[in-house]
Amino acid sequence: MPSRLVIAIDGPSGSGKSSTARGVARALDLSYLDTGAMYRAVAVAFLDAGVAPQDEAGVIAATVAADIQISLDPDDRWVRVNGRDVTTEIREPRVAQHVSAVSTLAACRENLVARQRTLMDADPRGCVAEGRDVTTVIYPDADVRVLLTADPQARLARRGGELGARVNTEQLRDQVLRRDADDSKLVDFTHAADGVHLLDTTHLSLDEVIRAVVALAKEIA
Ligand code: DC
Repeated sequence: MPSRLVIAIDGPSGSGKSSTARGVARALDLSYLDTGAMYRAVAVAFLDAGVAPQDEAGVIAATVAADIQISLDPDDRWVRVNGRDVTTEIREPRVAQHVSAVSTLAACRENLVARQRTLMDADPRGCVAEGRDVTTVIYPDADVRVLLTADPQARLARRGGELGARVNTEQLRDQVLRRDADDSKLVDFTHAADGVHLLDTTHLSLDEVIRAVVALAKEIA
């Protein structure tokens, strides 16, 4: 394996990418970046500032101005935006509902992508990063690039398990299926780009997925 290892993992909601990326980072002793948490943190920032989701210029300004601090430790996840800890808040339904206002604007994506590249380069050991455009836009030169997929039913069941009583069926479908449809307008995370390994996790356990990605990393000389 190279002395510095970068692993890019993309996939839709509920494909298992966060748990997989954290497991791989632990197994290979690498840092971990949750790029989606940054989009969510910016959503908190624009909502806090009283900017309406339809106000594109306001959302862009809030993105550019947002001071985002994020943990790169797979065992200690936290996010702060503009000095406030939003680790728990970014998982709330109101954030999931409005985060596409950020992710569907090219100017917001460009701003966050530049920061994400810097964060991925911060640790000399390397990094495992997960999101929607890590394999194609943020880090197309990553040593290992993987796109996780899973059947919609499996994805709904997994997200439902994570969110529990915090959401009803309608909110869950909105969070998983509507958001993926919106998000895939600007980034194609439904097809594997050239050189990206496609891994269907529908019938695999988390451990099996982690082992498959670790095996791909160990294959590279
Ligand atoms: O993975 P997640 O559900 O935490 O992502 C939150 C939102 O951010 C989701 O709507 C997709 C978007 N996102 C993105 O567009 N690009 C990324 N690299 C990561 C997330």
